[in-house]
Amino acid sequence: MADGDNAIPVEAWNTVLFEKFCRFRFVLTEGLSDHSDELLRRRPYARGARVLDVGCGFGDTTQVIAGQIAPEGEAVGVDCAENFVTVATREAADAGIENASFFIADVQSDDLRGPYDAAFSRFGTMFFNMPVVALRNIRGALRPGGELSMIVWRKREDNPWIHEAELCVRDIVPVVKHEESEAVHCGPGPFSMASADMVSDMLQIAGYERVRFERYDCDICIGRTMDDAVDFAMALGPAGEIIRLAGEEGTKRKDRVIRALRKTFASYQRNDGVWARSSSWFVTAHNPAS
Ligand SMILES: C[S@@+](CC[C@H](N)C(=O)[O-])C[C@H]1O[C@@H](n2cnc3c(N)ncnc32)[C@H](O)[C@@H]1O
Repeated sequence: MADGDNAIPVEAWNTVLFEKFCRFRFVLTEGLSDHSDELLRRRPYARGARVLDVGCGFGDTTQVIAGQIAPEGEAVGVDCAENFVTVATREAADAGIENASFFIADVQSDDLRGPYDAAFSRFGTMFFNMPVVALRNIRGALRPGGELSMIVWRKREDNPWIHEAELCVRDIVPVVKHEESEAVHCGPGPFSMASADMVSDMLQIAGYERVRFERYDCDICIGRTMDDAVDFAMALGPAGEIIRLAGEEGTKRKDRVIRALRKTFASYQRNDGVWARSSSWFVTAHNPAS
């Protein structure tokens, strides 16, 4: 692997993380769609536009965008993981959507098949080893004046749905750093774009102008039952990564972790499931017009 390339995260997204995303899809896509529905309501795409969906995963946002821009517009989903692209392609076809297509590429380094009027991403831009290089590559695929809108997590403390689970697991399981582990990992991680100052610098260095941040908060369902919520926390997000990278040490402490997570999540239990606060940035930036 060359320094800065995404070979390890790409393998992780196509294997262990793909499997976990399939298992917890109901939490991920249902929970996350509140954020994307709000952004796509505030800033709908115009009929006829050509829009790239970056790190599209299962392609549900690509399908929503395809609906907004139909019938002449084209929604194009890109993801580094072949397994996500296969599911996204099949599901869009099954839904009878004719103006959505998908391809496999590493957004940091590959040709993104532009030009696009706009690029969109729901939580798909936080895992690049070289984010400025990736953001510049996305800009290169936008037409002059084209807009990037990305949804990224704000700071950990305002996202107790994953942060509290992480704190709880850190107390019990020894933390193994990515560089100390043989296991594949997701890349920089869900909070790598939480700092508006840092991300606005990155975007400017990548050549964007008119950078804007809007905050969005909502409760998300992290499990229909307490068991679901605990399983989810142990499998995904920073808590799940700590357990997985700790290997046997993580497995040995599983029962203690389960008890601690149940206690942590107790205050989030409602009649209709386990719900916790989440908070994102809607970041928009433009490719200069000329
Ligand atoms: C947290 S998931 C979000 C998926 C989807 N946008 C959603 O909201 O459900 C991050 C996605 O980014 C993709 N991804 C990560 N690094 C990438 C890269 N370098 N190039 C393209 N896609 C990437 C992953 O495969 C994964 O599908």
